Amino acid sequence: MSFPATAKITKEGIIEIGGVSVEVLAEKFGTPLYVMDEQTIRQKCREYRLAFQNKYPNTSFIYASKALSTLSILKIVAEEGFGLDISSGGELYTALKAGVDPETIYFHGNNKPADEITEALEAKIGRFVVDNLEELNELNMQALKRGEKANILVRLNPGVEAHTHEFIQTGKIDSKFGFPQSGIPELIKKIKAAKAINFVGIHAHIGSQIFEADSFAKETDVLIELGAKFKKEGLEVKEINIGGGIGISYVDSDDPPPIEAFAEKIAAVLIEKAEAAGLDTPKLVLEPGRSIVGEAGITIYRVGSVKHIPGIRTYVSVDGGMLDNPRPILYGAQYKVLVANRALDEEKHKQTIGGRFCESGDILFKDVHIPMVKKDDLLVVFCTGAYGYSMASNYNRVPRPAMVLVNDGKAKLIIKRETYQDLIKNDILI
Ligand code: LLP
Repeated sequence: MSFPATAKITKEGIIEIGGVSVEVLAEKFGTPLYVMDEQTIRQKCREYRLAFQNKYPNTSFIYASKALSTLSILKIVAEEGFGLDISSGGELYTALKAGVDPETIYFHGNNKPADEITEALEAKIGRFVVDNLEELNELNMQALKRGEKANILVRLNPGVEAHTHEFIQTGKIDSKFGFPQSGIPELIKKIKAAKAINFVGIHAHIGSQIFEADSFAKETDVLIELGAKFKKEGLEVKEINIGGGIGISYVDSDDPPPIEAFAEKIAAVLIEKAEAAGLDTPKLVLEPGRSIVGEAGITIYRVGSVKHIPGIRTYVSVDGGMLDNPRPILYGAQYKVLVANRALDEEKHKQTIGGRFCESGDILFKDVHIPMVKKDDLLVVFCTGAYGYSMASNYNRVPRPAMVLVNDGKAKLIIKRETYQDLIKNDILI
């Protein structure tokens, strides 16, 4: 499993991240608390760039902001030379406020509302990733009215099944995303007839938390084959966008390949097949989200109670749960958890960590082996940087936690803890 690049355990058994002890962070900012390690985020961006620079230099990277979209995080990834994948007007708004160059923004989604398309045209974003004919029509009409041309990629269904949780698998034939291959002839006709559309390339996404580089290689191969069909009809494929990045290691049994190996497989297919298919060294675009911010994040919880049910189980209740991390209840996701100030203790006991929310399913970690905890202990959960805060809710009207960014012994608040006032700000009392 993976830890943030700066994570350390002192000889007293205390966990540190970014040069700051978890105890100090909890004391200063309260719990539950999301902590992001700036160095890890920057390092991951650089790893991607370096790996592809050697293997296929004509590659650009856009960060999938659905993994974690906040002003400071977007600023950091933009500084690292990444563009942005957005999938809503809200993500666009956040990106613009963070100062991201609109030219580098790709707009995804299988049902983009017309007003969000308008917002994106107004912002002059770089690319629309068109998912269906209704969207193509809407975009063409709006761009025509404005006297502009919209640059598009089209999302195709590659029919590649990758091994991951069913809910986050997107490339199989039976999917709500993308054009089925049988629809390509009609799609080509419509693109050619659309006066305000500038076709740039094709896109696919096979899913998330995938470990087999071969699945991405297969997807690339299929996209090249499909790209040849567009080329034959006079639509030049200048970009091939293969979607999200490689999976990450939440627990020891997760074994993703290094980014280098992932780069090597994809580049090999492009080099070998693209030219043969009549495509002229297309730009490769990658949209990693999880692998940029996942490992950089930890969550700190405080223990509230410990309940022993003789012969059954020990339940530990913490001050967060499915609200700040819905992944366990949604996907059965597993994580590594340590006791913040006893990380080196040898003696372990089987305990089940439950959240504080009113739902039996709000169990974060079932039967984990950690030192016996007691009230007020701090627990640290690793690899929570992606799809935690971004999927958090206000279930039970509990305010969402704060987020801090750590680097070089300093901690900066990047998201304030929500207040009760925030919770009712849109309520209207009749
Ligand atoms: N591009 C597209 C079009 C996507 O739909 C996604 C993720 C990505 C890129 C980024 O994929 P990544 O590099 O993060 O694997 N909530 C789920 C994950 C949903 C992923 C949705 N799409 C989870 O918590 O596991």
